[in-house]
Amino acid sequence: MKFDTIIRGGKVATAVDTFLCDIAIADGRISALGDGLGIADNIIDAQGKLVLPGGIDSHVHLDQPDTPDVVMADGFESGTRSAAFGGTTTLLPFCLQQRGQSLREAVKDYHAKADGNCYVDVSFHVIITDPTDHVLGQELPALIRDGYTSFKVFMTYEDLVLKDYDILRVMAVAREHHANVMVHAENYDAIRFLTERLEAGGNTAPRFHSNSRPIAVEREATHRAISLAEVADISITVVHVSNRQAMEEIRRAQSRGLTVHGETCPQYLVLTASDLDHPGMEGGKYVCSPPPRDKESQLACWEGLQQGVFQLFSSDHCPFRYNDPRGKLTQKGRSSFRWVPNGIPGVAARLPILFSEGVGKGRIDINRFVALTATNHAKTYGLYPRKGTIAVGADADIAIWDPGKNVTITHDLLHDDCDYTPYEGLTVTGWPVTTMVRGQVVVRDGELIGRKGSGEYLQRPAS
Ligand code: URP
Ligand code: ZN
Ligand code: ZN
Repeated sequence: MKFDTIIRGGKVATAVDTFLCDIAIADGRISALGDGLGIADNIIDAQGKLVLPGGIDSHVHLDQPDTPDVVMADGFESGTRSAAFGGTTTLLPFCLQQRGQSLREAVKDYHAKADGNCYVDVSFHVIITDPTDHVLGQELPALIRDGYTSFKVFMTYEDLVLKDYDILRVMAVAREHHANVMVHAENYDAIRFLTERLEAGGNTAPRFHSNSRPIAVEREATHRAISLAEVADISITVVHVSNRQAMEEIRRAQSRGLTVHGETCPQYLVLTASDLDHPGMEGGKYVCSPPPRDKESQLACWEGLQQGVFQLFSSDHCPFRYNDPRGKLTQKGRSSFRWVPNGIPGVAARLPILFSEGVGKGRIDINRFVALTATNHAKTYGLYPRKGTIAVGADADIAIWDPGKNVTITHDLLHDDCDYTPYEGLTVTGWPVTTMVRGQVVVRDGELIGRKGSGEYLQRPAS
């Protein structure tokens, strides 16, 4: 048989196995694995390379509305382009319901933003901010039936926070219709109280962002989120976990038999609160929530990844330009950390950081790397086995890695529309040199080959 493409001579790794074999691709799917597979229009030589499932990043923010004076740096074009440069082939960004807006309308608007603009495949989570009776009784069940099977609720942020009562109501819908609930766990009232006290004392520089959201704020909300999930009798995913106490809450819940998934992100492995302490407003480049903590918290996050407390490693890519009055340097942001837009970019840096710091430094093996960055995301969010693995019949979403390539991360390598990376100057070993989505090369050797619009929306099954 003649194939479209054969990837020859690479070392293939999945979430469970590592083996030498060739991969034959036809019509965008993996057709065969083995030796001497025959002929193809394109032969890709992967000798000395690692051949991995393309990354799936199930926590990114693209073109998400913020306050009127703030604009997100990346939309679907630049966000999916940057993903491809970092070896990621599927993104799950968040469709935000603005208060007063119908969910259906929010989803329709978000599709319009994505359509024709993507370089990699996408599917949407929905952020629920206004759980009216109509939203929970009609709109949400209908959307779940249409494959929008995961949604995020917030325990903080003025415009997003839900009361415990409303979180329970959302969870009840998720239980009835078999959907996933992701929780942003930070205690809103405690943050508000601390923020007011800090500001009253004249402590308004970006570094005080981390003082306004100490570990106790996250631990308490993590415990409460898990308790609410137990009351509602559903599984949840606690996203962007930053420290040991929150991680231990999840571990304890798991050991009690509850299905609680944990997610952490690169910022909690390689940044600390001291990064917010740059002179002037520069610390704003590292303002995200929860904030990066300390070295001991980094160790705890590694432990969570190594011991299976965390199943997901995502970027929480939430990009705002630094040198921009509609980004980190808003007029209000200059007056207090409270107004510095929360979030940092990371969609392209995610995989190289975990590969280098994790696999390269012997903290995790390559199979756990694949599980944490691709397979578990596909399984959690209903995309498996089409996505997240290398197997006959799966989409040919593949990243070919040069495991020995030394790269010092600089913003120009990442190809997003932000104007900085919080990981500037970090040297990594191992880099994705070819990224392929459904059999088509999107990025090769630092060059964009793919066509805007070739990325597709992934309809997920109803449950
Ligand atoms: O600071 C962050 N993480 N901003 C993004 C929004 C969120 O909470 O995920
Ligand atoms: Zn969040
Ligand atoms: Zn986020």
